[in-house]
Amino acid sequence: MHKDIKEILLSEEEIAEIVSRISKQISEDYKDKNLLLVCVLKGSVCFMADLMRNISIPFKIEFLRAKSYLSGSTESAGEVEVRSEIDHLDEYDVVVVEDIFDTGRTLQRVTEKMLQDGAKSVSCCSLLDKPERRAEGVDLPLDYVGKTIPNAFVVGYGLDFDENYRGLPYVGILKPEVYGG
Ligand code: IMP
Repeated sequence: MHKDIKEILLSEEEIAEIVSRISKQISEDYKDKNLLLVCVLKGSVCFMADLMRNISIPFKIEFLRAKSYLSGSTESAGEVEVRSEIDHLDEYDVVVVEDIFDTGRTLQRVTEKMLQDGAKSVSCCSLLDKPERRAEGVDLPLDYVGKTIPNAFVVGYGLDFDENYRGLPYVGILKPEVYGG
């Protein structure tokens, strides 16, 4: 285990089980639809790459940028900036792939943007859910959830602190002393 990690929350084996379960659900739910997987950069890249290799129906992929955290901080900045230029969105049933549902502002904003841009439908898939952290006014349902976790700052499997730890193969709780918590 990495020296800055206090505890592993999701092992590689658990991640593989989650990926397999959610891929099966999406393959079943979207078999008669025109599926577009939209990966929210950067934290969701590992989850997206694993889902892509396990979903058994045809689909297309896109990526968008969403930023809410201040660099070097474990707190959301509140405002979410979404950058996306997806063509022909009106042809697709979108599944947004997220790493973590924290305050929920990012997924809420991304969902609004996909619908504004004309998507036929939008559902949300998140590897992790931290319900204790939900912001007031966020009432978005999560359609696919990997695991519900307690209110701790986690890194690995794509998730970062200040752009570090994204390459860890598991999700772990970062030692608070690393971020001055
Ligand atoms: P939101 O608060 O739900 O909008 O979360 C937005 C983004 O904050 C997520 O996509 C993550 O990139 C990041 N984030 C939230 N919680 C954590 C965490 O525990 N570790 C690393 N990144 C996090």
